[in-house]
Amino acid sequence: MKKIILALDVYDFKKAEKLVKETSPYIDVYKVGPILFLQSGKEIIKMIKDNGKEVFLDLKFHDIPVTVKRSVESARELGVFSLTTHSIGGEEMLKAAAAIENRPKIWAVTVLTSQIITPEEVTRRAKLTKSCGIDGVISSPLEIALIKKECGKDFNVVTPGIRLLKVNDDQKRVATPEVAIKEGADFIVVGRPILEAENPAEATKNIYERTLIK
Ligand code: C5P
Repeated sequence: MKKIILALDVYDFKKAEKLVKETSPYIDVYKVGPILFLQSGKEIIKMIKDNGKEVFLDLKFHDIPVTVKRSVESARELGVFSLTTHSIGGEEMLKAAAAIENRPKIWAVTVLTSQIITPEEVTRRAKLTKSCGIDGVISSPLEIALIKKECGKDFNVVTPGIRLLKVNDDQKRVATPEVAIKEGADFIVVGRPILEAENPAEATKNIYERTLIK
């Protein structure tokens, strides 16, 4: 699978559809978050799948165990490839989500990449999620190597906070695509560097090529 996931952080269906069509040579998985899901729900998932692509449903579940369990079951019915929970939801919540049969991949958010915590705390949360049966974590570029070392290479690390060069916005823990891949990220999640580019298709191609480094 291609390592770049495009975050479809746009408000309307038409914009999202245009982006999927333009970028499809370089992307296998599209991330749908609350912004778009609240607007277009099931239709957006169907559109992405009808284009032969997979969906990463990023709704960051964090609730009592039974609610998270039922939410994961609903996401399974939608046929999404992966989804997110918060690691701070705790052991019982994470285990309830992980125990569901034939479920999408679950990636737990260790910490939002716009927030700052210590690498030790990120690793502690990653190890906890692994011990609960979760498939991987969403983590900033700065902790990829540490998490891989502590949790093993089969434990997925999915990395937002990708910037083509250093910029000042709300992402505090950033790296270039090359650095994230070299550190061992299984997937990088890219939003604004593509969405705000003059030519999103060109920007996607550029970042995709930068992920092919050995
Ligand atoms: O626009 P940008 O490239 O910063 O987009 C990053 C995407 O990754 C956003 O959709 C954001 O919600 C998501 N994300 C994040 N940090 C996390 C989990 C998800 O930035 N820990």
